[in-house]
Amino acid sequence: MVSRIIPVEPFDLVIFGGTGDLARRKILPGLYRRFCAGQMPENARVIGAARGALKDKDFRELVSKAIEEFVPKKRQDAKTIKEFATRLHYVTVDATGTDGWDALAKLVRKDVVQAFYFSVGPSLFGDLATRLHTHKIANPDARIVVEKPFGRDLESAQALNAVLADSFDEGQIYRIDHYLGKETVQNLMAVRFANVLFEPLWNAQYVDHVQITVAETVSVDGRGAYYDKSGAMRDMVQNHLMQLLCLTAMEPPSRFDPDAVRDEKLKVIRALDEVPADNIVRGQYGPGEDVDGYVAHSQNPETKTESFIAMKVDISNWRWKGTPFYLRTGKRLKARSSEIVIHFKQTPHSIFGEDAGSHDNVLTIRLQPDEGMDLRVTIKEPGPGGMRLVDVPLDMTFADALGPEAEDVPDAYERLIMDVIRGNQTLFMRGDEVEAAWAWTDPIIAGWTKRGDRPQPYEPGSSGPEDALMLLHRDGRRWREIRK
Ligand code: NDP
Ligand code: BG6
Repeated sequence: MVSRIIPVEPFDLVIFGGTGDLARRKILPGLYRRFCAGQMPENARVIGAARGALKDKDFRELVSKAIEEFVPKKRQDAKTIKEFATRLHYVTVDATGTDGWDALAKLVRKDVVQAFYFSVGPSLFGDLATRLHTHKIANPDARIVVEKPFGRDLESAQALNAVLADSFDEGQIYRIDHYLGKETVQNLMAVRFANVLFEPLWNAQYVDHVQITVAETVSVDGRGAYYDKSGAMRDMVQNHLMQLLCLTAMEPPSRFDPDAVRDEKLKVIRALDEVPADNIVRGQYGPGEDVDGYVAHSQNPETKTESFIAMKVDISNWRWKGTPFYLRTGKRLKARSSEIVIHFKQTPHSIFGEDAGSHDNVLTIRLQPDEGMDLRVTIKEPGPGGMRLVDVPLDMTFADALGPEAEDVPDAYERLIMDVIRGNQTLFMRGDEVEAAWAWTDPIIAGWTKRGDRPQPYEPGSSGPEDALMLLHRDGRRWREIRK
């Protein structure tokens, strides 16, 4: 496989919150990796901005340490880290005050691509946008990158959109959902729209049902205060799972361009039915041997927040009416495994008789770990003894099929930041898309809040609560096992 690194234009990337957790774990290590890949032009600069009184040299040290901690050892090289550090600068800025803004205005160049990454709490987005505007720092083509969560309901998302719109055009705003930057998520579009094989079958006539699972082993320990106000529905379903559902269900866009793709995703969200209470199962991990449960991690003994959710979702349009989408996500499950599984219908008639058993084709798109796809097809069991059928996988693990370079694909953040610099919004959420997702989510949350529903306990290291299994059993279906 030939690696094609497309250089980007010179840029100044200002990271507000440049000393925070996200910047240290994802954004700065990601930029280092792009630097190593030769994608950062000579005069590109990264400017950290936060309230802490740091000098350039302190920030460079902080970033070097972050690289040592969060970039795999085999990708680290002391000389390259030093070279990368020369691109780093720091300005002390208070988003809510006047300190530092003049210095920032002086430092940021007007004649290069400007990107301003809001890696701070959402309550500061408005302050930052307004100050960038009033201090005339941002040029008309500047890009504003906004982290999640984008609101906690429709009203707050609308308010955020409004505050950003006061200073910037929609074409300048890049709302991050890092799932859209994952390699396999984009591959989903390639598989659907660059092959003739699947698209004719990609509808309710041939697809029995779809399963989307994002299972995690991590707990919420250390971030209980945030998570307890959010829960799996707001933290994962409204954004990440919704994006996966949209890319799986959308109509082919006419072009692979930002608005064509986002228009099609929006249509899917608008076609989602309301979800009745008995199509939703919420769970909360309990304590296990030597491990605390959710209640301890949330530090809220009265908590009713879900760390797991499974739901059956129907899409009311011509393509999907009658084909349910089952979504499932949770913390502290038995394995970290994210996949989209397309279960095709059985053949209308089996010419092999009852002894051959029942078989169906299943396409599994593995997001993580072990990115790849496999298609289960039915063949004759080898050997004598009549016509017995067996299901075998046509496996395409990207690392096997594409060689070592497939193992070195950019992390989601790396890819998304480079897209920002290129000015490509395809993999970012548009304002109306986020609002539509909240408009669908809000009544679901309001429903269980009004009823006072408590999530069901589940064992840490399990597949979630029993009732999640029942959600499919009662329809004569089974979840694909969450595998290690
Ligand atoms: P942290 O609390 O670790 O960092 C916050 C950063 O913002 C620090 O650099 C802090 O520095 C700076 N900051 C705080 N107040 C101000 C202010 N008034 N003016 C200027 N800078 C300020 O947060 P995270 O890095 O974890 O999160 C940042 C954003 O990213 C949040 O919106 C979060 O929801 C989102 N996010 C985080 C993820 C993660 O894994 N951490 C994952 C996905 C999204 P100082 O105190 O010196 O000002
Ligand atoms: C974040 C959520 O957006 O995504 C976290 O806030 C979650 O709760 C994380 O753990 C999962 O991302 P990934 O890339 O590890 O699957």
